[in-house]
Amino acid sequence: MTIKKIMVIGAGQMGGGIAQVSAQAGYDTVQYDINMDLVNKGLAVIEKNLSRDVSKGKKSKEDKAAILGRIKPSVKLEDAADCDLVVEAIVENFDIKKQVFSQLDQIAPAHAILASNTSSLPITQIAATTKRPEKVIGMHFMNPVPVMKLVEIIRGLATTDEVYKIIEEASIKMGKTPVWCKDVPGFISNRVLQVMINEALWELYEGVAPAENIDNIMKLGMNHPMGPCELADLIGLDTILSILNVMYDGYGDPKYRPSPLLKQYVQAGWLGRKTGKGIYDYRK
Ligand code: NAI
Repeated sequence: MTIKKIMVIGAGQMGGGIAQVSAQAGYDTVQYDINMDLVNKGLAVIEKNLSRDVSKGKKSKEDKAAILGRIKPSVKLEDAADCDLVVEAIVENFDIKKQVFSQLDQIAPAHAILASNTSSLPITQIAATTKRPEKVIGMHFMNPVPVMKLVEIIRGLATTDEVYKIIEEASIKMGKTPVWCKDVPGFISNRVLQVMINEALWELYEGVAPAENIDNIMKLGMNHPMGPCELADLIGLDTILSILNVMYDGYGDPKYRPSPLLKQYVQAGWLGRKTGKGIYDYRK
């Protein structure tokens, strides 16, 4: 099976980036969200990213036009009917993803692969909501998608080797380096990363030091390009809380229990850059 057409579900920070790298790789791409305002918001970010590349001389104006020309906006899941691959990048909530996957399973052609960009939810459980569990896989891009080189590929219990190979090839075509892992809560990436971010949030909660100090220590002392608090605001505090809860439930180990401060920020709607305020304030 050759992938020609890809549908990306969700036009938020991850979905928009995935649609961009898909179109850049030459795939016909459908960018879906629940309403046209959200789709257009996602497309505007892609347009801005491409314009930046043009001004830096990384792409020509013709390239930019061709990439944008390959992305079709959509608010109809029925548009999955002629797609070979669907990549889901909606909120990190199992019940919502379950609904979307069972609908996609009915609409997408029998040969189509259904991938999830979930940060932590079990691929095996998502796959079980469909009648094609062997064609369901985790395709975990990193944020910001057009920049970051990695795709963590998660093989569910039923995912076939053939499906894995196709997704590995598509990831390479999108300019990424695929690295696979088994389907465990948090996979490899978030099992390591979120424990660090959560620990920084515990430090903040305990008043050990302000966020700037925590970030500076990790940047200047450990050579991290971003501190854990800055990175938390980039990822989204709601997403981080969901991931920690999945790992806390999945392993039953208290080392994953979310900091009370993280819960409070989420309750306040302080979700990070995407809402203008998180650990830091971006509204100034
Ligand atoms: P986001 O909040 O920026 O975007 C989510 C998008 O999904 C929104 O545009 C929303 O309208 C849309 N959506 C919500 N319900 C929907 C539905 N029923 N059907 C279609 N669209 C729906 O979230 P973000 O950060 O893009 O995360 C998306 C997924 O990617 C999550 O599973 C998250 O865990 C994962 N992820 C996030 C990373 C990050 O750094 N933020 C990194 C890697 C994975």
